[in-house]
This record gives sequence, structure tokens and C-alpha cells, in this order.
Amino acid sequence: MATKKALPKYTVPSLSREDGARLAEILQVRLHALNDLALTLKHIHWNVVGPHFIAVHEMIDPQVDAVRAMVDVIAERIATLGGAPVGTPGAIVRERSWDDYGLGRDTTNAHLGALDVVYQGVITDHRQAAADTEELDDVTNDMLIGQLAELELFHWFVRAHLESAGGALSTGDETTERGSAAKAKAKDD
Ligand SMILES: [Fe+2]
Repeated sequence: MATKKALPKYTVPSLSREDGARLAEILQVRLHALNDLALTLKHIHWNVVGPHFIAVHEMIDPQVDAVRAMVDVIAERIATLGGAPVGTPGAIVRERSWDDYGLGRDTTNAHLGALDVVYQGVITDHRQAAADTEELDDVTNDMLIGQLAELELFHWFVRAHLESAGGALSTGDETTERGSAAKAKAKDD
């Protein structure tokens, strides 16, 4: 968790400065998560190989653009609330609770399996942030919910590649990037 900071000198009208600070604190973690996601998506864009390269390579870039746009909206909401958004790489690494993405050059299936787990983590935490802001601020809550709709759509784009005609995911109920990548990769053969 971020260390406790001084209260903002102002926040949006009708909110207390304490609520403004709490909202900024919640949003700071989402800022780190989506900055990390945008970088991870580009890393995948560059490292996928195999027969389905171009489909996955080209699917990823609009997701990068959309996530970068979300990052900007979150950072500017923090500033609007009277906080100071932190967007430096060192702060992301220092304050994040998740591991760095683990795959390098690998098949499209392996990356999609790992990315399924990445999206599961980001979306679960984004939903928690939406729940945590529900009573505090409708505007921040609405922003997070709008982002969730887009993130969940992108998650489906990933999962549709891992799905059988019967609707089952090749990754099963794997919860680790490497486990999920290995199961998805087994479909390469
Ligand atoms: Fe590119």
C-alpha cells in the first residue's frame, strides 16, 4: 500500500478532503496497474510468434491505446481530486503487489494464456476499486465502471482465442501466468 500522505489542500466540491485523499489513494494503485498493463501489452505485441502472429500482434495495439487513454483519465482524476498522480516506473515497481510479466518470446497461445491471467487480476482489482468508491464518489465510481466494461471486453477477445466450440477455456481454472501459458501452449501441437 501507498504510504499515508498529507491531505490535499482542496478537492472537488461537496467531498471532504479526507474522502478526496482516500479516492486518490485508491486511484493511484489503479494507475500503477494500468500503466503496467499498457507496457505488458506492448511487450506481448513484440514477442508473440507462430502461425497466428499477425492476428494477435494486431489485436493488441488497440488495447494498448485504450488502456493508455484510461491511464490519462485516472491520473487527471487524481489531480482533479487535489492529489498528485505518480506515473514513474520506479514507483510502479516499488508499490505494485503483483509480479512482472514472466514470458519473453513465445507462441501466441502461451501469451494469450498468460494474458488471460493478467486480465483476471487487473479486472478483479478494478472491480474492488469500483466497490470501494461506490459510497464515496459517483463520478470516480462511474469512471471505473466505464473502464471495466472495456477491460472485460478485451479479456473476452483474449479468451475467445482459448475457447473450444463447447465454450470451455483451454487454460481451465489456472490462476498463474506460467500455468495458464503452459496449458494454452499445449494446444500448439
Ligand atoms: Fe507495433
